[in-house]
Amino acid sequence: MSKILVVDDEAGVLASFEKMLSGQGHQVLTARRADLALELLPTEQPDLLIMDIRMPGMDGLEAFRRIRAGNARLPVIFMTGYSTTEYAIEAMKLGAFDYQVKPFEPEELLRIIDRALEGYRLMQRQVAFDPATLPDAGDALIGQGPLMQEVYKQIGRVAQTDAAVLIRGETGTGKELVARAIYQHSRRSGAPLLMLNCAAIPETLLESELFGHEKGAYTGAIARRIGRFEQASGGTLFLDEIGDISPATQAKILRVLQDQHFDRLGGQEPIRVDVRLLAATNRNLEQAIAAGQFREDLYYRLKVVTIALPPLRERREDIPKLAEYFVERFARQLKVDPPSLADQAMALLLSHPWPGNVRELEHCLHRALIATGGYPIQADDLRQALGQSPTAADQPGSAPEDLLVQVRDYLKSHSGPSTHERFLEQVDKLLVAEALRQTGGNQTQAARLLGLTRPTLQAKMNKYGLRREVSLREE
Ligand SMILES: Nc1ncnc2c1ncn2[C@@H]1O[C@H](COP(=O)(O)OP(=O)(O)OP(=O)(O)O)[C@@H](O)[C@H]1O
Ligand SMILES: [Mg+2]
Repeated sequence: MSKILVVDDEAGVLASFEKMLSGQGHQVLTARRADLALELLPTEQPDLLIMDIRMPGMDGLEAFRRIRAGNARLPVIFMTGYSTTEYAIEAMKLGAFDYQVKPFEPEELLRIIDRALEGYRLMQRQVAFDPATLPDAGDALIGQGPLMQEVYKQIGRVAQTDAAVLIRGETGTGKELVARAIYQHSRRSGAPLLMLNCAAIPETLLESELFGHEKGAYTGAIARRIGRFEQASGGTLFLDEIGDISPATQAKILRVLQDQHFDRLGGQEPIRVDVRLLAATNRNLEQAIAAGQFREDLYYRLKVVTIALPPLRERREDIPKLAEYFVERFARQLKVDPPSLADQAMALLLSHPWPGNVRELEHCLHRALIATGGYPIQADDLRQALGQSPTAADQPGSAPEDLLVQVRDYLKSHSGPSTHERFLEQVDKLLVAEALRQTGGNQTQAARLLGLTRPTLQAKMNKYGLRREVSLREE
């Protein structure tokens, strides 16, 4: 749940936003004047602002300037009519997240809102080098071995400079974590971090996404557009999957790196920006150059500061600590005590080749923990967890189908006495734990949710050791 402040002088607009956003599970605050909104910010600390441009008294642009002076990272989405679009575009130059012309397409608007919230979350979510110092809502970069120590040193060396950094490494090695760590330790940590996955944007749109365009630059360019480089000015731009960009767009990126200038598509004058670029790729750029897909000049420019993340199989000494970290994290989520790993299970973790690197290890342990529901994790549990495709657990499937997959996997490696009982117990425990989670530990409500009597629920909680974790919040 996020906290969203909506500012508009029309009560009707506020009411419809309130309805739409609270329907998405967000907490909505409203203000009918910009000065009232500014007063709310320090105490309420919303995660996102949605604001009209034209309002009596202070207008949206002026309010935005003041907000930026206090908290430059807070994402702001403007609402505008056609007559004020130019102001909204102006706001984008100043670093607004986006704008929407009335009347809105609710689906498009919700997509933008989600992106803004996710971007802000990642900007703020702390990346720490030591899990002991990590707040609950944070990510730790785990790895005490010499290879990761070298990575930390490099982060330390480059973070405070304004140098562009190329982060290389196979999939799942932690490139995004490193990018966020550099940002958070940089001089620009108070300004926004814009993250863009270049591979997710169609080639034909990417250039305009990055550099913007003038009205009429091509058919369909009905208004000027401010690109990411301009929008991120004063801050940091993280271009993920930079190896997937076309050579023409690469040439423009090189120009920005060399002399902080670029042209909007169809634009007449070069635009000056002050952006720190972080880039990542899992592609072999040397091969891409040989194949004519990546420009050598950009490669040499980016290569100056490179952080190369080692694949997990080359730093196996870090696996026990990583495993412990993920098991604890998922156990906390599932509200169970962190289970132990059997010796055979640890041996398997240490010998697996991990083609998907840390992400694969993370998913494997997550699945194993869900399957065992807090019992010690055996090698067999891990084998099952690895047997599924690396992302299967993240894809929304139909529940009975997912359950059937679990049942099949379970029966591949279990048989004999208590096979039936143990599987049912796992499901039973998950149901009870989840009902308690959803009701904030309220036993009466959880029992009602499951259609059980309260004594039956309590008996199950005792049986599965769920009592301790929730007793703090008992009704
Ligand atoms: N050293 C590490 N310590 C703890 N967690 C890590 C580490 N490295 C990666 N992770 C976790 O592994 C997952 C993948 O990391 P990340 O997204 O940074 O990888 P990536 O290199 O960007 O992969 P891709 O190339 O597929 O985008 C994330 O959940 C991240 O938190
Ligand atoms: Mg990534």
